[in-house]
Amino acid sequence: MSLIDKTEKRVMMASGAVLALFLFSVLYAKGKYKSDLPECLPYSKAYETPKVTKLDDSTYQVFAVAQMWQFQPSEIYVPVGSEVDFFVTSKDVVHGFNILLKNVNMMAIYGNINKTTVKFDKPGVYKITCHEYCGVGHQNMQAQVIVNYPTEPPPNLPR
Ligand code: CUA
Repeated sequence: MSLIDKTEKRVMMASGAVLALFLFSVLYAKGKYKSDLPECLPYSKAYETPKVTKLDDSTYQVFAVAQMWQFQPSEIYVPVGSEVDFFVTSKDVVHGFNILLKNVNMMAIYGNINKTTVKFDKPGVYKITCHEYCGVGHQNMQAQVIVNYPTEPPPNLPR
């Protein structure tokens, strides 16, 4: 007689199948939507200074800092076709870092750096929102990535 009960065996096989499905889904999404798998980087104070760094005409780095209740920088301008590395941290509580239409869903955590890379192929305004409840000002926590052709002025903004 087997040491493992038949039902137990079935449940284990079903969990294995579900795990395999999840893993497959993650890899499928990574390929199909060209999404980057976020990484966790070693912490350094240097990431707490919000800034946008241009590496070349189509490669940028954004050091995004979340704190109650804002993101800095709050407006990020990049030209169409740019590849942007986002380094995300928080100065206080846990915040969310969600880039609409771009499949980015990360957390901003104190003492922690999360990184992801996003390619902006189409012009437009991509909202960044906080989607982790972080206090009374949570719903106002927004920023935006403004993607435009390099020769045109940013949309809806006076020049
Ligand atoms: Cu920050 Cu919600």
